[in-house]
Amino acid sequence: MNDINEDMALPKWGGDTLLRCIERRKETPDTDTFVLAPENPARFDYHPGQFILVGVEIEGEKHQRAYSLSSSPSRPSSLAITVKRVDGGLVSIWLHDHLHKGNTVDASLPMGQFYLREDALPKEVVLLSAGCGITPMMSMSRWLLDTGHDRKIQFIHSARDLVNVIFREELQDIAQKHPNFMLELVLERDDGSKENAAPRQLTKECLAKLVPDTSAVQAYLCGPQAYMTCVENWLLEIGLPRDCLFKESFTAVNGPTSCLEGETWKLTAPTFGKSVEIGQGQSLLDAMEKGQLPIIGACRSGVCGSCKCKVTSGNVISTSEATLTPEQIKDGYVLACSSTATGDLSVEL
Ligand SMILES: Cc1cc2nc3c(=O)[nH]c(=O)nc-3n(C[C@H](O)[C@H](O)[C@H](O)COP(=O)(O)OP(=O)(O)OC[C@H]3O[C@@H](n4cnc5c(N)ncnc54)[C@H](O)[C@@H]3O)c2cc1C
Ligand code: FES
Repeated sequence: MNDINEDMALPKWGGDTLLRCIERRKETPDTDTFVLAPENPARFDYHPGQFILVGVEIEGEKHQRAYSLSSSPSRPSSLAITVKRVDGGLVSIWLHDHLHKGNTVDASLPMGQFYLREDALPKEVVLLSAGCGITPMMSMSRWLLDTGHDRKIQFIHSARDLVNVIFREELQDIAQKHPNFMLELVLERDDGSKENAAPRQLTKECLAKLVPDTSAVQAYLCGPQAYMTCVENWLLEIGLPRDCLFKESFTAVNGPTSCLEGETWKLTAPTFGKSVEIGQGQSLLDAMEKGQLPIIGACRSGVCGSCKCKVTSGNVISTSEATLTPEQIKDGYVLACSSTATGDLSVEL
Protein backbone atom coordinates (compact mmCIF):
# COMPACT_ATOMS: atom_id res chain seq x y z
CA MET A 1 0.00 0.00 0.00
CA ASN A 2 1.24 3.54 -0.75
CA ASP A 3 2.13 5.92 2.05
CA ILE A 4 -1.00 8.00 2.66
CA ASN A 5 0.91 11.22 3.42
CA GLU A 6 2.82 10.83 0.16
CA ASP A 7 -0.47 10.27 -1.68
CA MET A 8 -1.93 13.46 -0.19
CA ALA A 9 0.99 15.38 -1.74
CA LEU A 10 0.21 14.11 -5.26
CA PRO A 11 -1.25 16.51 -7.84
CA LYS A 12 -5.06 16.48 -7.95
CA TRP A 13 -6.62 14.38 -10.72
CA GLY A 14 -8.34 16.72 -13.18
CA GLY A 15 -10.75 14.24 -14.73
CA ASP A 16 -8.96 14.60 -18.07
CA THR A 17 -7.34 11.17 -18.40
CA LEU A 18 -8.65 7.65 -18.71
CA LEU A 19 -8.53 5.49 -15.59
CA ARG A 20 -6.97 2.06 -15.57
CA CYS A 21 -8.47 -0.85 -13.70
CA ILE A 22 -5.66 -1.88 -11.32
CA GLU A 23 -7.61 -4.46 -9.33
CA ARG A 24 -10.88 -6.31 -9.55
CA ARG A 25 -12.60 -8.09 -6.66
CA LYS A 26 -15.68 -10.30 -6.54
CA GLU A 27 -17.99 -9.13 -3.76
CA THR A 28 -21.06 -11.32 -4.38
CA PRO A 29 -22.04 -13.63 -7.26
CA ASP A 30 -23.30 -10.63 -9.29
CA THR A 31 -21.29 -7.70 -7.91
CA ASP A 32 -17.65 -6.77 -8.50
CA THR A 33 -15.44 -3.96 -7.24
CA PHE A 34 -13.22 -2.22 -9.81
CA VAL A 35 -10.27 -0.27 -8.41
CA LEU A 36 -9.25 2.54 -10.78
CA ALA A 37 -6.15 4.74 -10.98
CA PRO A 38 -4.75 7.28 -13.45
CA GLU A 39 -1.72 6.46 -15.61
CA ASN A 40 0.35 9.18 -13.92
CA PRO A 41 0.04 9.11 -10.13
CA ALA A 42 -2.53 11.63 -8.93
CA ARG A 43 -4.80 12.27 -5.97
CA PHE A 44 -8.59 11.93 -6.13
CA ASP A 45 -10.40 14.64 -4.20
CA TYR A 46 -13.96 13.81 -3.16
CA HIS A 47 -16.41 13.50 -0.31
CA PRO A 48 -17.39 10.04 1.00
CA GLY A 49 -20.70 9.22 -0.70
CA GLN A 50 -20.13 11.00 -4.03
CA PHE A 51 -20.30 9.27 -7.42
CA ILE A 52 -18.53 9.36 -10.78
CA LEU A 53 -19.93 9.03 -14.27
CA VAL A 54 -18.39 6.13 -16.15
CA GLY A 55 -18.44 6.40 -19.94
CA VAL A 56 -18.15 3.44 -22.28
CA GLU A 57 -18.54 2.94 -26.01
CA ILE A 58 -20.78 0.06 -27.03
CA GLU A 59 -21.29 -0.68 -30.73
CA GLY A 60 -20.08 2.81 -31.67
CA GLU A 61 -22.39 4.61 -29.25
CA LYS A 62 -21.31 6.37 -26.06
CA HIS A 63 -23.13 5.57 -22.83
CA GLN A 64 -22.66 6.99 -19.35
CA ARG A 65 -23.84 5.71 -16.00
CA ALA A 66 -23.37 6.95 -12.45
CA TYR A 67 -21.51 4.80 -9.91
CA SER A 68 -21.01 5.76 -6.26
CA LEU A 69 -17.47 5.51 -5.01
CA SER A 70 -17.11 2.71 -2.50
CA SER A 71 -13.53 3.77 -1.68
CA SER A 72 -12.55 6.40 0.87
CA PRO A 73 -10.96 9.76 -0.01
CA SER A 74 -8.54 9.10 2.87
CA ARG A 75 -6.74 6.74 0.44
CA PRO A 76 -6.60 9.14 -2.49
CA SER A 77 -4.30 7.51 -5.05
CA SER A 78 -7.05 5.27 -6.43
CA LEU A 79 -10.81 5.02 -6.32
CA ALA A 80 -13.22 2.13 -6.45
CA ILE A 81 -16.67 1.50 -7.84
CA THR A 82 -18.72 -1.56 -6.99
CA VAL A 83 -21.07 -2.58 -9.74
CA LYS A 84 -23.98 -4.98 -9.69
CA ARG A 85 -24.55 -6.84 -12.95
CA VAL A 86 -28.12 -5.88 -13.86
CA ASP A 87 -30.07 -8.41 -15.97
CA GLY A 88 -30.51 -6.87 -19.42
CA GLY A 89 -28.48 -3.83 -18.36
CA LEU A 90 -26.21 -2.23 -20.93
CA VAL A 91 -23.31 -0.64 -19.08
CA SER A 92 -23.19 -2.84 -15.96
CA ILE A 93 -22.88 -5.96 -18.12
CA TRP A 94 -20.30 -4.28 -20.34
CA LEU A 95 -18.18 -3.39 -17.29
CA HIS A 96 -18.41 -6.93 -15.93
CA ASP A 97 -17.49 -8.42 -19.31
CA HIS A 98 -14.81 -5.94 -20.46
CA LEU A 99 -13.27 -3.97 -17.60
CA HIS A 100 -10.56 -6.41 -16.60
CA LYS A 101 -7.36 -5.57 -14.76
CA GLY A 102 -5.19 -3.46 -17.10
CA ASN A 103 -8.08 -2.09 -19.20
CA THR A 104 -9.07 1.58 -19.20
CA VAL A 105 -12.33 3.43 -18.83
CA ASP A 106 -13.52 7.02 -19.14
CA ALA A 107 -14.62 8.67 -15.90
CA SER A 108 -15.80 12.07 -14.70
CA LEU A 109 -14.67 13.99 -11.66
CA PRO A 110 -16.52 12.89 -8.51
CA MET A 111 -19.78 14.76 -7.99
CA GLY A 112 -23.11 14.71 -6.15
CA GLN A 113 -24.73 16.22 -3.08
CA PHE A 114 -25.19 12.94 -1.19
CA TYR A 115 -22.13 12.79 1.01
CA LEU A 116 -21.09 12.66 4.63
CA ARG A 117 -21.08 16.12 6.21
CA GLU A 118 -17.46 15.71 7.39
CA ASP A 119 -17.31 19.19 8.93
CA ALA A 120 -20.53 18.83 10.94
CA LEU A 121 -20.52 15.27 12.22
CA PRO A 122 -23.13 14.39 14.86
CA LYS A 123 -22.64 11.95 17.75
CA GLU A 124 -24.13 9.12 15.72
CA VAL A 125 -24.17 8.38 12.01
CA VAL A 126 -26.89 5.99 10.84
CA LEU A 127 -26.26 4.39 7.46
CA LEU A 128 -29.25 2.62 5.93
CA SER A 129 -28.96 0.78 2.65
CA ALA A 130 -30.39 -2.03 0.60
CA GLY A 131 -28.79 -3.95 -2.27
CA CYS A 132 -26.12 -2.01 -4.14
CA GLY A 133 -27.19 1.13 -2.23
CA ILE A 134 -24.50 -0.01 0.20
CA THR A 135 -21.67 1.51 -1.89
CA PRO A 136 -21.78 5.13 -0.64
CA MET A 137 -22.26 3.82 2.93
CA MET A 138 -19.08 1.79 2.60
CA SER A 139 -17.18 4.88 1.49
CA MET A 140 -18.51 6.85 4.48
CA SER A 141 -17.67 4.05 6.94
CA ARG A 142 -14.20 3.54 5.54
CA TRP A 143 -13.54 7.29 5.79
CA LEU A 144 -14.88 7.60 9.36
CA LEU A 145 -12.80 4.66 10.58
CA ASP A 146 -9.71 5.52 8.54
CA THR A 147 -9.61 9.07 9.91
CA GLY A 148 -10.01 7.86 13.49
CA HIS A 149 -13.46 9.27 14.25
CA ASP A 150 -15.05 7.72 17.32
CA ARG A 151 -18.66 8.54 16.34
CA LYS A 152 -21.12 5.71 16.73
CA ILE A 153 -21.78 4.25 13.29
CA GLN A 154 -25.00 2.30 12.97
CA PHE A 155 -24.74 0.36 9.71
CA ILE A 156 -28.13 -1.17 8.84
CA HIS A 157 -28.12 -3.07 5.56
CA SER A 158 -30.86 -5.10 3.89
CA ALA A 159 -30.15 -7.86 1.37
CA ARG A 160 -31.75 -11.01 -0.02
CA ASP A 161 -29.50 -13.36 1.96
CA LEU A 162 -26.00 -13.55 3.41
CA VAL A 163 -24.41 -14.52 0.09
CA ASN A 164 -25.74 -11.31 -1.46
CA VAL A 165 -24.41 -8.96 1.21
CA ILE A 166 -21.88 -6.83 -0.65
CA PHE A 167 -18.68 -6.31 1.45
CA ARG A 168 -19.90 -8.91 3.96
CA GLU A 169 -16.50 -10.11 5.17
CA GLU A 170 -15.07 -6.63 5.47
CA LEU A 171 -18.14 -5.39 7.36
CA GLN A 172 -18.03 -8.27 9.81
CA ASP A 173 -14.33 -7.72 10.30
CA ILE A 174 -14.83 -3.98 10.92
CA ALA A 175 -17.63 -4.72 13.41
CA GLN A 176 -15.33 -7.02 15.36
CA LYS A 177 -12.45 -4.56 15.45
CA HIS A 178 -14.30 -1.29 16.09
CA PRO A 179 -16.64 -1.09 19.11
CA ASN A 180 -18.23 2.10 17.70
CA PHE A 181 -19.33 0.27 14.51
CA MET A 182 -22.68 -1.52 14.92
CA LEU A 183 -23.58 -3.81 12.05
CA GLU A 184 -27.18 -4.92 11.58
CA LEU A 185 -27.89 -7.13 8.59
CA VAL A 186 -31.52 -7.57 7.59
CA LEU A 187 -31.86 -10.66 5.41
CA GLU A 188 -35.03 -11.59 3.52
CA ARG A 189 -34.09 -15.27 3.24
CA ASP A 190 -32.81 -17.47 6.01
CA ASP A 191 -29.96 -19.58 4.63
CA GLY A 192 -30.10 -21.97 7.60
CA SER A 193 -26.64 -21.06 8.84
CA LYS A 194 -25.96 -20.35 12.51
CA GLU A 195 -24.12 -17.23 11.43
CA ASN A 196 -27.37 -15.82 10.14
CA ALA A 197 -29.63 -14.93 13.01
CA ALA A 198 -30.55 -11.67 11.34
CA PRO A 199 -34.01 -10.10 11.33
CA ARG A 200 -35.98 -10.87 8.15
CA GLN A 201 -37.53 -7.47 7.68
CA LEU A 202 -36.78 -3.92 8.68
CA THR A 203 -39.73 -2.41 10.56
CA LYS A 204 -40.36 0.86 12.32
CA GLU A 205 -40.15 -0.94 15.69
CA CYS A 206 -36.83 -2.52 14.76
CA LEU A 207 -35.50 0.88 13.65
CA ALA A 208 -36.70 2.54 16.87
CA LYS A 209 -34.79 -0.09 18.87
CA LEU A 210 -31.61 0.39 16.85
CA VAL A 211 -31.81 4.19 17.01
CA PRO A 212 -33.52 4.94 20.34
CA ASP A 213 -32.31 8.55 20.48
CA THR A 214 -32.65 10.54 17.25
CA SER A 215 -31.63 13.87 18.77
CA ALA A 216 -27.95 13.75 17.75
CA VAL A 217 -28.16 11.64 14.62
CA GLN A 218 -27.57 12.11 10.91
CA ALA A 219 -29.11 9.38 8.77
CA TYR A 220 -28.03 8.49 5.22
CA LEU A 221 -30.35 6.41 3.09
CA CYS A 222 -29.85 4.65 -0.25
CA GLY A 223 -31.66 1.75 -1.91
CA PRO A 224 -34.62 0.85 -4.10
CA GLN A 225 -37.44 3.40 -4.15
CA ALA A 226 -39.99 1.36 -2.13
CA TYR A 227 -37.41 0.70 0.59
CA MET A 228 -36.41 4.37 0.72
CA THR A 229 -39.98 5.61 1.02
CA CYS A 230 -40.75 3.24 3.93
CA VAL A 231 -37.53 3.91 5.80
CA GLU A 232 -37.76 7.67 5.32
CA ASN A 233 -41.28 7.71 6.83
CA TRP A 234 -40.21 5.54 9.77
CA LEU A 235 -37.18 7.71 10.50
CA LEU A 236 -39.35 10.84 10.56
CA GLU A 237 -41.97 9.07 12.68
CA ILE A 238 -39.40 8.05 15.31
CA GLY A 239 -38.37 11.68 15.61
CA LEU A 240 -35.48 12.26 13.21
CA PRO A 241 -35.55 15.91 12.08
CA ARG A 242 -36.00 16.12 8.29
CA ASP A 243 -32.84 18.17 7.86
CA CYS A 244 -30.80 15.35 9.42
CA LEU A 245 -31.86 12.90 6.72
CA PHE A 246 -29.85 12.61 3.49
CA LYS A 247 -30.86 10.27 0.70
CA GLU A 248 -29.98 9.19 -2.80
CA SER A 249 -31.80 7.01 -5.25
CA PHE A 250 -29.99 4.97 -7.92
CA THR A 251 -33.11 5.01 -10.09
CA ALA A 252 -35.56 7.72 -11.18
CA VAL A 253 -37.41 9.09 -8.12
CA ASN A 254 -41.15 9.30 -8.80
CA GLY A 255 -39.85 10.72 -11.99
CA PRO A 256 -41.44 11.24 -15.30
CA THR A 257 -42.61 8.06 -16.99
CA SER A 258 -41.04 6.94 -20.23
CA CYS A 259 -44.22 5.88 -21.99
CA LEU A 260 -46.39 7.85 -24.33
CA GLU A 261 -49.84 8.16 -22.85
CA GLY A 262 -52.56 10.83 -22.59
CA GLU A 263 -52.09 14.08 -24.49
CA THR A 264 -49.07 14.52 -26.78
CA TRP A 265 -47.20 17.63 -27.91
CA LYS A 266 -44.32 18.64 -30.17
CA LEU A 267 -40.77 19.01 -28.87
CA THR A 268 -38.62 20.90 -31.38
CA ALA A 269 -34.83 21.09 -31.43
CA PRO A 270 -34.22 23.82 -34.07
CA THR A 271 -30.41 23.36 -34.08
CA PHE A 272 -30.93 19.82 -35.36
CA GLY A 273 -33.96 20.67 -37.55
CA LYS A 274 -35.96 17.98 -35.75
CA SER A 275 -39.31 17.68 -33.99
CA VAL A 276 -40.29 14.72 -31.83
CA GLU A 277 -43.49 13.75 -30.09
CA ILE A 278 -43.66 14.08 -26.31
CA GLY A 279 -46.45 12.66 -24.16
CA GLN A 280 -47.97 13.85 -20.92
CA GLY A 281 -45.74 12.65 -18.07
CA GLN A 282 -42.96 11.52 -20.45
CA SER A 283 -39.52 12.89 -19.66
CA LEU A 284 -37.89 15.28 -22.13
CA LEU A 285 -34.88 12.93 -22.01
CA ASP A 286 -36.91 9.92 -23.08
CA ALA A 287 -38.62 11.84 -25.91
CA MET A 288 -35.28 13.18 -27.20
CA GLU A 289 -33.58 9.79 -26.99
CA LYS A 290 -36.46 8.19 -28.90
CA GLY A 291 -36.09 10.95 -31.52
CA GLN A 292 -32.33 10.22 -31.68
CA LEU A 293 -31.35 13.70 -30.55
CA PRO A 294 -27.82 13.82 -29.08
CA ILE A 295 -28.54 14.06 -25.36
CA ILE A 296 -26.80 12.11 -22.61
CA GLY A 297 -28.74 10.72 -19.66
CA ALA A 298 -26.20 9.28 -17.25
CA CYS A 299 -28.01 9.02 -13.92
CA ARG A 300 -31.61 9.48 -15.10
CA SER A 301 -32.48 10.56 -11.58
CA GLY A 302 -31.72 14.28 -11.58
CA VAL A 303 -28.38 14.22 -9.78
CA CYS A 304 -25.58 14.41 -12.37
CA GLY A 305 -26.53 17.26 -14.71
CA SER A 306 -25.49 15.43 -17.89
CA CYS A 307 -28.94 15.88 -19.49
CA LYS A 308 -29.01 19.66 -19.04
CA CYS A 309 -30.78 21.49 -21.90
CA LYS A 310 -32.31 24.93 -22.44
CA VAL A 311 -36.05 25.37 -22.96
CA THR A 312 -36.37 28.34 -25.31
CA SER A 313 -40.17 28.27 -25.62
CA GLY A 314 -42.95 26.45 -23.81
CA ASN A 315 -43.19 25.28 -20.18
CA VAL A 316 -42.07 22.23 -18.26
CA ILE A 317 -42.59 20.79 -14.79
CA SER A 318 -39.33 19.72 -13.12
CA THR A 319 -38.80 17.44 -10.13
CA SER A 320 -35.07 18.18 -9.82
CA GLU A 321 -32.86 21.18 -10.52
CA ALA A 322 -29.73 19.72 -8.86
CA THR A 323 -26.43 20.93 -10.38
CA LEU A 324 -28.15 23.91 -12.10
CA THR A 325 -27.12 27.37 -10.93
CA PRO A 326 -29.79 30.04 -10.22
CA GLU A 327 -28.59 31.88 -13.38
CA GLN A 328 -28.99 28.74 -15.52
CA ILE A 329 -32.49 28.16 -14.13
CA LYS A 330 -33.36 31.80 -14.87
CA ASP A 331 -32.03 31.33 -18.42
CA GLY A 332 -34.36 28.36 -18.97
CA TYR A 333 -32.02 25.41 -18.35
CA VAL A 334 -33.70 22.24 -17.10
CA LEU A 335 -32.73 18.62 -16.45
CA ALA A 336 -34.33 16.62 -19.25
CA CYS A 337 -34.56 13.42 -17.17
CA SER A 338 -36.55 15.18 -14.47
CA SER A 339 -38.79 17.40 -16.59
CA THR A 340 -42.09 16.87 -18.37
CA ALA A 341 -43.84 19.06 -20.93
CA THR A 342 -47.13 20.88 -20.44
CA GLY A 343 -47.47 21.81 -24.13
CA ASP A 344 -45.37 22.30 -27.29
CA LEU A 345 -41.80 23.34 -26.61
CA SER A 346 -38.47 24.18 -28.18
CA VAL A 347 -35.14 23.15 -26.72
CA GLU A 348 -31.48 23.94 -27.32
CA LEU A 349 -28.97 21.18 -26.69
C1 LIG B 1 -26.05 8.46 -8.18
C2 LIG B 1 -26.07 7.01 -8.63
C3 LIG B 1 -25.16 6.13 -8.09
C4 LIG B 1 -25.19 4.77 -8.47
N1 LIG B 1 -24.29 3.93 -7.91
C5 LIG B 1 -24.31 2.62 -8.24
C6 LIG B 1 -23.41 1.70 -7.62
O1 LIG B 1 -22.61 2.05 -6.75
N2 LIG B 1 -23.45 0.41 -8.02
C7 LIG B 1 -24.32 -0.03 -8.99
O2 LIG B 1 -24.29 -1.22 -9.32
N3 LIG B 1 -25.20 0.82 -9.57
C8 LIG B 1 -25.19 2.13 -9.24
N4 LIG B 1 -26.07 2.99 -9.84
C9 LIG B 1 -26.93 2.50 -10.94
C10 LIG B 1 -26.17 2.60 -12.26
O3 LIG B 1 -25.98 3.96 -12.60
C11 LIG B 1 -26.94 1.96 -13.43
O4 LIG B 1 -28.23 2.47 -13.46
C12 LIG B 1 -26.98 0.43 -13.33
O5 LIG B 1 -25.66 -0.09 -13.36
C13 LIG B 1 -27.77 -0.15 -14.52
O6 LIG B 1 -27.21 0.34 -15.70
P1 LIG B 1 -27.23 -0.54 -17.04
O7 LIG B 1 -26.68 0.31 -18.14
O8 LIG B 1 -26.56 -1.83 -16.79
O9 LIG B 1 -28.76 -0.85 -17.22
P2 LIG B 1 -29.75 -0.09 -18.23
O10 LIG B 1 -29.42 -0.53 -19.60
O11 LIG B 1 -29.71 1.37 -17.92
O12 LIG B 1 -31.13 -0.67 -17.72
C14 LIG B 1 -31.60 -1.94 -18.10
C15 LIG B 1 -32.85 -2.33 -17.37
O13 LIG B 1 -32.56 -2.62 -16.01
C16 LIG B 1 -33.34 -1.84 -15.12
N5 LIG B 1 -32.43 -1.45 -14.01
C17 LIG B 1 -31.57 -0.43 -13.99
N6 LIG B 1 -30.90 -0.43 -12.80
C18 LIG B 1 -31.34 -1.50 -12.09
C19 LIG B 1 -31.00 -2.03 -10.83
N7 LIG B 1 -30.07 -1.47 -10.04
N8 LIG B 1 -31.65 -3.17 -10.41
C20 LIG B 1 -32.58 -3.74 -11.20
N9 LIG B 1 -32.93 -3.28 -12.42
C21 LIG B 1 -32.33 -2.17 -12.86
C22 LIG B 1 -33.78 -0.65 -15.90
O14 LIG B 1 -35.01 -0.16 -15.43
C23 LIG B 1 -33.89 -1.25 -17.31
O15 LIG B 1 -35.14 -1.84 -17.49
C24 LIG B 1 -26.09 4.34 -9.46
C25 LIG B 1 -27.01 5.25 -10.01
C26 LIG B 1 -27.00 6.55 -9.60
C27 LIG B 1 -27.99 7.51 -10.19
S1 FES C 1 -29.36 12.24 -16.46
FE1 FES C 1 -28.37 12.91 -14.64
S2 FES C 1 -29.43 14.74 -14.17
FE2 FES C 1 -30.50 13.94 -15.83
